[in-house]
Amino acid sequence: MNLPDLKEAKKRTNKEVKHIYLNQEYDKNIFKNKKYFIRTYGCQMNVHDSEEIRARLESLGLTKTENLEDADLVLLNTCAIRENAHDKLYGFLGRCKHAKEIKKDLIIAICGCMAQEENVVNEIKTKHKYVDIVFGTHNIHELQDLLIKRHNKQEINVYSCEGDVYENVEYKRDSNIKAWVNIQYGCDKFCTYCIVPYTRGKQRSRLSKEIIKEVECLVKNGYKEVTLLGQNVNAYGKDLENELSFAELLQSVANTGIERLRFVTSHPWDFTDEMIDVIAKNDNIMNYIHLPLQSGSDRILKLMGRRYTKKEYLELFNKIKEKINNVSITTDIIVGFPNETEEDFNDTLDVVNTCKYDSAFTFIYSPREGTPAAKMEDKIDLKTKEERLHKLNELINKYSLENNKKYVNKTVKVLIEGVSEKDDKKAFGYTETMKLVNVTGGIPYINSIVDVKITDAKSFSLDGEISKWKIL
Ligand code: 5AD
Ligand code: SF4
Repeated sequence: MNLPDLKEAKKRTNKEVKHIYLNQEYDKNIFKNKKYFIRTYGCQMNVHDSEEIRARLESLGLTKTENLEDADLVLLNTCAIRENAHDKLYGFLGRCKHAKEIKKDLIIAICGCMAQEENVVNEIKTKHKYVDIVFGTHNIHELQDLLIKRHNKQEINVYSCEGDVYENVEYKRDSNIKAWVNIQYGCDKFCTYCIVPYTRGKQRSRLSKEIIKEVECLVKNGYKEVTLLGQNVNAYGKDLENELSFAELLQSVANTGIERLRFVTSHPWDFTDEMIDVIAKNDNIMNYIHLPLQSGSDRILKLMGRRYTKKEYLELFNKIKEKINNVSITTDIIVGFPNETEEDFNDTLDVVNTCKYDSAFTFIYSPREGTPAAKMEDKIDLKTKEERLHKLNELINKYSLENNKKYVNKTVKVLIEGVSEKDDKKAFGYTETMKLVNVTGGIPYINSIVDVKITDAKSFSLDGEISKWKIL
């Protein structure tokens, strides 16, 4: 048994990161005719980890089911970023417990960021004994062995370490046209509210040659869009000697000929002019940037440990807007950081009024055990925080709609992905600028990039139709 340890998780040493090339083979008969049910919470990193987990489960012969009741194995890939993620997990665990009462040999496994948290694992150990396996973000590659060697007792195997980089990882990707590609793991920024540096280890980059090889393979297999993934992609390569910078990596990946290239997430601190130039000059690097603001108040930014001021953020924002044609910019904002005053909050509104973001993810601050901000005394009541969030969201939605309206009557390129959930006569897809479009006449074009004429705009999506010339 290996239990998580927050103190260990916080450590950053000079220990060299190992790039480990896996060579794992398993017998598909081991779990033949067995089914798995997987539920993923949280960010794109978790979504992509679940693609790895799926490949691992299928290497043992398991197949996927969408019905919890049909499953022989339930796997919950969890998120720790805010408290509500905990509530969701425990809510769902109740259902799993019930399913296990009916099917005694159901295996329940928990992994992801919550598995890296001391308090969570203690609770699972003492109050949720029916959970069979807990593993963390550093040992996904051990999943098959954990399943094969399992005894009839709860197995908790979580490592609180700085982490290594694993290569030759296989994925069962959710899409056959859009792919996530990890370029970096972990984070060393230690923003004071954030649990990620503790749950995901130190910032460590993959070798550029491996990343390029992976993208080349995706291109060969018909993928049209790649999103490079990391907590802080612009710091790519800084932890390795003689490695490309993020700007150089972007250029090299663009050179593979992938039709659409995106990346998430950028920290304003590491965003270089070179990066902006590379994005501006390559048509296949999408003109869409997610640039987390978190707060517009210099006082709060300092308490958050964000390393930039409101002025510096706005300078970067304006530079990006000037240099990248028709760029859309989205952001993340936290309201109600400990002792955020009305004045601090107004600074955030001021930045929103200046930047007029295309859209934003907005959150009420949620204390995370073990982080510095969780120790700060907070005099602001929840009602005030909720009112601020509401006010902020109204402003964000107003600008989203305004920005979306500019698209009406324009023809834009949309990668059509599938049938629209709301209307099965329409297809849905995304513009280069990451706007969701519901497309009339789009169904025959699923998996291709087509010209779409935008006919209407809402706050969260656009409506469009296949351009006339395409139909002729
Ligand atoms: N409370 C609220 N929001 C948070 N985020 C990260 N940590 C917290 C927290 N403790 C938000 C940030 C980040 C996004 C992924 O989640 O805005 O950019
Ligand atoms: Fe968390 Fe800050 Fe790292 Fe983003 S940059 S993952 S907010 S510590």
